[in-house]
Amino acid sequence: MGRVHKNFKVRAPDPRLAIIDERLKNVKRIFVVVSGKGGVGKSLIATTLSLILTKRSHSVGLLDLDFHGPSCHFILGAKGAMPTEEKGIIPPEVHGIKFMSLVYYVGDEPLPLRGTEISDTFTELLAITRWGRVDYLIVDAPPGIGEEVLDVIRLMKRSEFLIVTTPSSLVLKTVSRLTRLLLELKVPILGMVENMRITETKLVEEHAKRFGIKYLGPILFEYNLEKCLGNPKKLLRTKFTHNIKDIAKEIS
Ligand SMILES: Nc1ncnc2c1ncn2[C@@H]1O[C@H](COP(=O)(O)OP(=O)(O)O)[C@@H](O)[C@H]1O
Ligand SMILES: [Mg+2]
Repeated sequence: MGRVHKNFKVRAPDPRLAIIDERLKNVKRIFVVVSGKGGVGKSLIATTLSLILTKRSHSVGLLDLDFHGPSCHFILGAKGAMPTEEKGIIPPEVHGIKFMSLVYYVGDEPLPLRGTEISDTFTELLAITRWGRVDYLIVDAPPGIGEEVLDVIRLMKRSEFLIVTTPSSLVLKTVSRLTRLLLELKVPILGMVENMRITETKLVEEHAKRFGIKYLGPILFEYNLEKCLGNPKKLLRTKFTHNIKDIAKEIS
């Protein structure tokens, strides 16, 4: 974007925007895992959902949109994977998932992007990534209602949102703000997932009901999950995965 000519104050349209629709043309459904809040399990759920759908013989893409704190590569144990360049960028297949993340380019270095830079980076990423034919593209969103979430709504027009929360009134305060925003923008909401349940509670279920959103059930808190990070085979054998399988059946 910029001035057409130094004498003209007209902004030229961003040519990348037209390419993005073309790049996503053969993606059947886009699921965006959001919360508004951090640390509620978005990345673990997005990655596990991708693994489950892949196991069910679907073609799956996973996009890590948390530029400041990418995590999916760590959960997948995606060491050494790198995209190939061919008329754009082709994401490598990691455990059968077409996996795209900025981590390929920044490694463990910090990436202190500001708002407009985030938007620009995201636009570029969507414009260059060649997903090809994909049944489900899972997007792992960062916390907050910042550029990334707003840009998903603007640029990935067929997105359906999966809201993740924990059964905490404190967390639900923030989750409610995001939920209100999504409802106001009239974007499709797949439902609300309650993660890390420890005791019997109706908090999230009632909350979902109040907003007129489908309650997709609880995922229990599981103590040994830490040992499964970086090991998808182990992760797929957990109760956590078992809970997400039920959710996957409801939404896919
Ligand atoms: N059901 C669960 N039981 C136990 N630990 C969990 C559960 N869900 C997520 N976690 C852990 O919580 C932490 C935050 O998860 P993460 O997916 O990074 O959250 P977010 O992406 O929302 O910031 C991680 O250490 C993860 O392993
Ligand atoms: Mg995360």
